[in-house]
Amino acid sequence: MASKIRIAAIGDLHIRTTVPADLVRQSIGLRALADVLVITGDITNGGRIQEVEIAAEFLRRIEIPMITVLGNHDRRTTRRRHFISILEQSGVRVLDGDSLVIGGRNGIGFAGVGGSGGGFWPEEAEPTPSNRAMQAMAVRARREADRLDRALSAIDAPVKVAVLHFAPTVSTLAGEPLAKYPLLGNSVLGRVVDKHRVALVLHGHAHIGAPEGATPGGVPVHNVAAALHGGFSFRSVPLRTAIDARQEMLTSIGAVQ
Ligand SMILES: [Fe+2]
Ligand SMILES: [Fe+2]
Repeated sequence: MASKIRIAAIGDLHIRTTVPADLVRQSIGLRALADVLVITGDITNGGRIQEVEIAAEFLRRIEIPMITVLGNHDRRTTRRRHFISILEQSGVRVLDGDSLVIGGRNGIGFAGVGGSGGGFWPEEAEPTPSNRAMQAMAVRARREADRLDRALSAIDAPVKVAVLHFAPTVSTLAGEPLAKYPLLGNSVLGRVVDKHRVALVLHGHAHIGAPEGATPGGVPVHNVAAALHGGFSFRSVPLRTAIDARQEMLTSIGAVQ
């Protein structure tokens, strides 16, 4: 197996009636550039079946393994199961609180949830004024973070990547209005990825945020919203060999003694 995995990533396609010609053009060469395509949600604009059918027709032609989570716009669907099955029939695995390992036990595991807003207090921001909507969002934030926690725990591979729609840190939001931050993500997600020492987080949703950032614990975070990159963006993640993993284990045993 190769020593790294090449990830193509994109979020926030917001497909309505057509796929932008530029994206179609970029997708043609994707197979030569990446081993896997990660889509961070908001594939559709309104969660409509017609929209997801257009997206599926486009994605089917890409022909590399594809993973996605649902964004808040996809969640507008009133036929969630059907919506997901259309994507899966075109070869896109929809992660919704679960995970997928590529390359076996020495490979790479992707855990995915959409996530939620909720804000970044206390790690990275002031508390958000509490009202009914924010309280409901905080409940949802905790629930989604728990689902991410379980999905990451279930991965039996040395390298883990978290796929989210909402952001786990403010560092990839710079450029967005400050007042919008609580709607763009939450720090509970950040705590979970730090706990699992995830190799990389990919998210979208912040269309005018910043492309690169990190959680308070130092996990690299990549905002792959299409508008930020003019389409697909790319990232390589090194894979650890069994020898690397064993060496790390021995080192950590040494550190404890
Ligand atoms: Fe979006
Ligand atoms: Fe979104």
